[in-house]
Formats: sequence, structure tokens, C-alpha cells
Amino acid sequence: MSDKNFYITTPIYYVNDVPHIGHAYTTIAADVLARWHKSAGEKTWFLTGTDEHGQKIQTAADARGITPQQLCDEVVQNFQRLWKTLNISNDDFIRTTEPRHEKVVQEVFRRLIEQGDIYKGEYEGWYCVPCETYVPEAQIGEGNTCPDCKRPLTKMTEETYFFKLSKYAEPLLKYYEENPDAIMPKSRYNEIVSFIKSGLRDQSVSRTTLSWGIPLPGDDKHVIYVWFDALINYLSALDFPEKGGKWETFWPVVHHLVGKDIIRFHCVIWPAMLMALGVNPPVKVFAHGWWTVEGAKMSKSVGNVVDPFEMAGLYGVDAFRYFVLREVPFGNDGDFSELAMAQRINSDLANDIGNLLSRSLQMIDKYREGNLPASYKATELDKEIEDLANATAAEMTALMDRFAFDEALKSLWNFIGRANKYIDETQPWKLGKDGEVERLDAVLRTLWESLRLAAVQVAPFMPETAANIWAQLGLAGNPLDGGRANWKWGALEAPVKIAKGSILFPRIDIEKWKAEKEKRDQEKRAAANPTAFFNFDDHEPEIEYDDFGKLEFRVALVEKVEVVPKADKLYVLHLDLGYEKRAIVSSIREFYKPEELEGKKIVVLVNLKPAKFRGVVSNGMLLAAESPDTTKEVLTLLTVMDDSIPVGSRVH
Ligand code: ME8
Ligand code: MG
Repeated sequence: MSDKNFYITTPIYYVNDVPHIGHAYTTIAADVLARWHKSAGEKTWFLTGTDEHGQKIQTAADARGITPQQLCDEVVQNFQRLWKTLNISNDDFIRTTEPRHEKVVQEVFRRLIEQGDIYKGEYEGWYCVPCETYVPEAQIGEGNTCPDCKRPLTKMTEETYFFKLSKYAEPLLKYYEENPDAIMPKSRYNEIVSFIKSGLRDQSVSRTTLSWGIPLPGDDKHVIYVWFDALINYLSALDFPEKGGKWETFWPVVHHLVGKDIIRFHCVIWPAMLMALGVNPPVKVFAHGWWTVEGAKMSKSVGNVVDPFEMAGLYGVDAFRYFVLREVPFGNDGDFSELAMAQRINSDLANDIGNLLSRSLQMIDKYREGNLPASYKATELDKEIEDLANATAAEMTALMDRFAFDEALKSLWNFIGRANKYIDETQPWKLGKDGEVERLDAVLRTLWESLRLAAVQVAPFMPETAANIWAQLGLAGNPLDGGRANWKWGALEAPVKIAKGSILFPRIDIEKWKAEKEKRDQEKRAAANPTAFFNFDDHEPEIEYDDFGKLEFRVALVEKVEVVPKADKLYVLHLDLGYEKRAIVSSIREFYKPEELEGKKIVVLVNLKPAKFRGVVSNGMLLAAESPDTTKEVLTLLTVMDDSIPVGSRVH
């Protein structure tokens, strides 16, 4: 057991959105680190969660006509379900609407007011609602837009409480000078240091413009600003400031993994808040890069958002976990391409590691009936493999300490490649045929041990695959049981027998895959943009001006709406046309409640020949717009919003 402690966090994600590859990426990376450090014998804690307050959530809830809490309770399940699906081993999951969190946020706020680090003032500025942040005058984009998300800004003036961020500029600079690794990668460190040097202004930390937040203690006109609230999750989840709480073990050995979008919050405001509390800043913030998809920004309206559930379902959880960490150096931006993933599955997983396992075990089965030789005499060549295995473990450890997932995997695959080449060099099938028992024993044992070490090293990345290899090697338990001692060549006694199973990763037929992908893409585009299904060529023949003149449209007031007995689609609308009253039967019952129609002014074709429906005479026709998607029909009546248009007016 190491005496090191390791605390790893992800951002707490907003619940206004469905989880996508970006959220999955950070959380998978955190999971790999948690498993890696835990298996090295460190005492680890892994936290993720959801950010549930603020304007964004309020707006999303309003749009759906539910309360913010209902929205949170619903969407949080998508995240929790995803983490289960992706085999995420978090020790805790924090929601900012939980009392254990709200209590700590209020306590922190109260403390900072008391000591004068938070004070009351007034703020006027341009606010970006989607980003939940004021944009400084100098950074406002063209046409009054947010420099980050490019959406229009809103002018806001409010009484607000300020956090004395300016006071912490010097202490922050000093901290970063003394701890040049506190922010990684280096480019982000430099960015933050020069941002602090350009001067820090006090930060508004309360809002009066919304109610969906934690009430400010002692001034309930205000709620606490969502970022001030959210950042504290990293401590509230550890029972800060309780004596003997988990935070005493895991602070400040905290490693915040975040996307590059939120580093100012994590590297400027958060450590300043901590300094104000007399608590040490985090030892590490690592900001990774941004995923685009096939060269484009992910967007719901384009319909190219990568759904991690779908990826895990199509390719397997482990392949997805492996791919996102292997494909792009952690810290760089990356472009997600499903084709690249399919190809990498074929080359790295089906070929390299998959073949090493199946070739080796096949030969142990064939030449030794699955029995492992108890001992063997290693040659120079066998020793070379052993040395490379031990060196790989050491190299991977150093790389993982630098969050270089891709290089750590490259290092392991270099070893796997070497082991595959070793099979070609030693040609065990020849040894088997020629009856060279002693040499064959050494080769088979060398391969078996190589696979055992590969399983241990790959386990944090691909837990299920590693467990599968482990079981096929005939070993009991889990590759990560036993800690770092297991990472050495020959650390475990070999079992008597192997238990060869099915292949690890079936090969993907790329041609077949391409056709299927095209079909999936089409369906997605159609779902994102239903009018794509619409047949725009389906038009009526041209008519004369006089033909149109024959149609008499007028504005009518809906006075009363009745249901038609035994006709569950029909309503009778009693209309006032100003010059007369009449009734129209219409099949809009599934789209409106009677009270949603009563009092509305609608448009009616009044000179249509009356007809009878279910025994009720319908005198005229309502005008309505119909959605083109026939699978999910939506119908909207044309209404007249302008009060100055009297009932009975002609519509032409
Ligand atoms: O910012 N590429 O939550 P959020 C890579 N609630 N990573 C991505 C990504 C992409 N395209 N899109 C999202 C918030 N991410 C706050 C955090 S923490 C105290 C509060 C990941 O739901 C990345 O980790 O907008 C990014 O930082 C995070 O999701 C933003 O998640
Ligand atoms: Mg965001």
C-alpha cells in the first residue's frame, strides 16, 4: 500500500442537455486515472456529478413546462445511466440540489461575507445566458455576441454581491510561480498566468434575476451565482468543513479534469475562493481539448451529436474507451470519426492484442492440451521480452503521471507488437512439430506472461477486456487485484491450465460498415430535421387569380368548444363571425384542450358548402398548419394575434 492519496474529479455537468461524447471523454479519462492510481495502491477518491442550478436549467425547464427540479431529476438519470454503461467507477455522485451541498455553499458564503471577502454592490453588464457569464466590454463579439458561443448578449443591471477576486491576483501568481505543474498542459498554464497578470476584477457571485439557485444566506432577494455554487461541489462532496471529514484526506491532492472551456473558473476563481477560505489550491487542473465531429462543431440542429450510448452499443464499451484516449493526445483538440474508430478497432484491438491472445492460447491448447509448463529456461531472446515488459510498466507509469494516455497506450502496444513478432521469430508451431519440448515450454510461458502483464496494464482502460484475458489465461480474480507488485514479470504463480475463450474483438467489415453507417446518418439527419422527409414536389396545379377570389376567409372568435360524443378526434367549435354565429366540426381534439381554444381568434373559410360529421353539421373550414413528419403529427391553428382586427374581418 502506498501512502499517497489521490482525488480525481470531473466537471459536474449541466442537466439541460443529454450527455454526449464530450462528457463521456472527461469521465472516461477520470475513470482510467482512478483505476490506475487505485491499482498502484494509492488511497483514491473519484467524484463526478451534475450542476443543477442557474438560468440555463430554469430556461430548459420552462421550455418544457416542468419545474427545474423535475427537469434535474429526469436528466440526471441520463448521466447516471451513462456512467453505469461506460463502466465508470466513481465513488460518489454529487448533485448541487442535494442538501449536503447547499448547506456547505451557504456556509462558505456566510464565512466570506463575514471576513469581508464578499461585499454588496451593483453590476451592469452584458450577460451571456447560455454560458452563464458576463462578458467584459473588450471581449464582446461582433453584433453584441458572446466571444465563446457567438450567441446574442443580454444587457443586465442588478444589485449583486461581489467576491474580492482582485485581492487574490498576487497570491495566485505566486502560487503558480511556485507550482508550475499545477495547471497542465503548459499552454494552459501560460494562458492563465498571463490572464491573471492582465488584472483581475471582483467577481459578481449572486443573482436577483432568477430564483433557481441556492438562496443567499441573510438576503433572500438573491440566489448564489451558479459557478460559485458549482465549484464548491469538489469540497462539499467530501463533507467540508467537517472535522475528520474525507476532505482532510483528499485535499489538496485533488486532480481536476476539465475541458479547456472552463479553465478560468477552475484556475482563477476557484483557487482564489479556496485561498479566501484558508484552504490550499488544487495540486492539479488538467484541461483537455475539444472534440469536433468529422470536422464540424457538434450541434443538435445539425444532428451530428455523438451519442456515447450508441457508440458503446455498436462497438463495445471498451473499444470506445480505448479509442477516445488513444486517438488524441490528452490536452489537444480532436476530431471524432467513426471510420477512424472502426479502423483502429481492426488494427489495434482485433489484430494486435486480439491476435496475440488467440495465437498464444491456441498453441498452448494444441501443443500442451492447455497445460502450462510449471517452469522454463529463458534464453537471451526470452529475457529481452521480459525486460521490455518491465520497462513498459515503468514507462507507462511515468506517462500516466503526465496524463499522456495516448503515449502510455502506444508504449503498451509497442510491447504487444514485440510479443507478436516474437511468435514469428520463435515459430512455436515448428518447435511443436519437431518435439523441441524445452524450447517450446519457454516460448509458451513467455507469451503467457506477456499477456498477463498486458492485461494488467490495459485494465484501467479496458476493464472488461482485461478481465476476459485474465480468465482466459486461467487466472482467478481480477487483473488489478494485488496492486503494483503484480506489474512485474513472474510476480504470480502460473496456473496449471488455461481456459481459452472466444475472440476479444471481432473484425469489422469496413465495406459493410460503410453502408450501415450511411443509413444511420440518414436517419439521424431526418430526426434532427424532419422537413427532410417532406415531399416538396407534391404541389397543386396553378390557379387563376379569380379562383382565389372565390375563397372567402374571415376572422372568427372561438366562443365555446364541445366534444362530439363517440368521436374521439372531433370538436365542435362554436364561432362568432361578427355578422353571424355558426359551428364547425374539426379533428383537432388531440392537439388542443377546449380552454386553449376558447377566446382565440382564428381564420375560417366561410363559404365552403356545409357537411355533416357524426350527425353534426359543419359550416366552414378552419385553417391550420400541419407538420410534415407523418410519424409524429402536429397541428397548429392559424390565429390572429392583433387585437385591433375585429371579428369578421376578411383575410386575403
Ligand atoms: O461547464 N469536447 O458543464 P457542461 C470535449 N456545469 N469535452 C467536452 C465537449 C467537447 N466537445 N463538450 C463538453 C459546465 N465537454 C459546468 C461545470 S464544474 C464545477 C461546472 C466536457 O455540461 C468538458 O469536460 O457544459 C467540459 O469542460 C464539460 O464537458 C462542460 O460540461
Ligand atoms: Mg458548457
